[in-house]
Amino acid sequence: MRISVIGCGYLGAVHAATLADLGHDVVGLDTDAGRIEQLAAAQAPFHEPGLPVLLEAGRRSGRLRFATDPAALAGADVHFLCVGTPQAKTTFEADLSHVVAAVEALRPHLRPGAVVVGKSTVPVGTAARLASLIADTGAVLAWNPEFLRQGSAVRDSLAPDRLVYGIPEGPYGEAARAMLDAVYAPLLEQGTPRLVTDYATAELIKTAANAFLALKISYINAVGEFCESAGADVVALSRALGHDARIGGTYLQAGAGFGGGCLPKDLRSFRAQAHQRGVEPLEELLSLADGINADARYRLAETAVRLCGGDIAGRRVTVLGAAFKPNTDDIRDSPALDIALQLAAQGATVTVSDPQAGPNAWLQYPHLDFEPDPLAALGGAELTVLLTEWAQFTTLDPAAAAAVVANPLMLDGRNALDPAAWRAAGWQFHAVGVGLAEAGAAPVLL
Ligand code: UGA
Repeated sequence: MRISVIGCGYLGAVHAATLADLGHDVVGLDTDAGRIEQLAAAQAPFHEPGLPVLLEAGRRSGRLRFATDPAALAGADVHFLCVGTPQAKTTFEADLSHVVAAVEALRPHLRPGAVVVGKSTVPVGTAARLASLIADTGAVLAWNPEFLRQGSAVRDSLAPDRLVYGIPEGPYGEAARAMLDAVYAPLLEQGTPRLVTDYATAELIKTAANAFLALKISYINAVGEFCESAGADVVALSRALGHDARIGGTYLQAGAGFGGGCLPKDLRSFRAQAHQRGVEPLEELLSLADGINADARYRLAETAVRLCGGDIAGRRVTVLGAAFKPNTDDIRDSPALDIALQLAAQGATVTVSDPQAGPNAWLQYPHLDFEPDPLAALGGAELTVLLTEWAQFTTLDPAAAAAVVANPLMLDGRNALDPAAWRAAGWQFHAVGVGLAEAGAAPVLL
């Protein structure tokens, strides 16, 4: 099929490359000429495992092209909207200006029978509004939310948990469903569940899924705080909860909390929507989860200060991690950088290490020191704080690390290290939600 993908960011670039991999003829469109140039040369503009291989395969097969001119959209049967919906600058709402601009750019190139498929995460009611914008073109709109995670986006796209189609009732909706079935034929053949709903439900499924993941993380972080006060161990507790299939073991890792370009802003957009519709219990629940997440960052920074005897000014601190999670170079709303900045603001000399996100972070925060090599970054550190659980950090040799720091004092902000191994190598080891009550009583770096 001939397909266009409008917006080639973290979502669109991967979507375009995977659709080409599924056998379609794909053109990716973006207003950022530099990004399009990179993609056309089969270079991923951001770190995403597996993406360069797909881009190269698409380039070689001739099935994957990139363009900045909307004229390239003409002739496609299906157009995917993959532009960003960031949090608005002054409110908790999603900024829909990119989505509306994409539809305006697409409108002149739509032909009767074409299908426009929204993938961006949007507030309920957006699809109906966009459908009315293209009603006179003879094209039909469908909503097909995306659930891929950065860092495993290629795998998630080629083996999704489910496909959701939000379509209108009647023959137009049926035509859209048939087109989407054809687009995703290889995934449906491999047994991927497909759920067909109305627009509003499809839009809400995505928002509700991200908000639920955020709630799970905030729940375990709140329980972690309780564990600290009760002398219990949130890591063991979380592991035990995970054995209950009704609860599930994922998104129960206590630590620095959630960040990135999706969970925080989708939680807030949902909260704004609940407020607009007067659904107070939901608004309060989401607001609480957001507050707990912010607290997780403050509490970690506070613990770091406490471990330094109540004053971190002048201390050399190494922060392991800048990306909002491992396997990406994305630093949007990164808990690691947030905490690094809090410590720097209190006078600490902070060196940040990250295998991929250093350049992005340095561009935004040139007053922090960046060192990609973890052992070099640890040189002379009085306190080490692990905040993004990259394999490069979780597999560090504690003895080698102890040999280069000024003081072997570790605060594991992701509960990702083996406390016994680090203690055996001479480290004073502290984790989130585990025995911090005692550690807090006695500063360990005087
Ligand atoms: C999230 C969703 O998981 C995807 O399904 C969705 O498609 C995507 O948003 C989106 O809307 O585009 P992503 O932002 O890539 O994906 O990140 P996650 O892997 O969900 O992690 C989010 C944050 O939660 C990270 O900062 C991570 O460190 C944190 N986290 C995750 C925890 O603090 N604890 C956990 O147990 C799990």
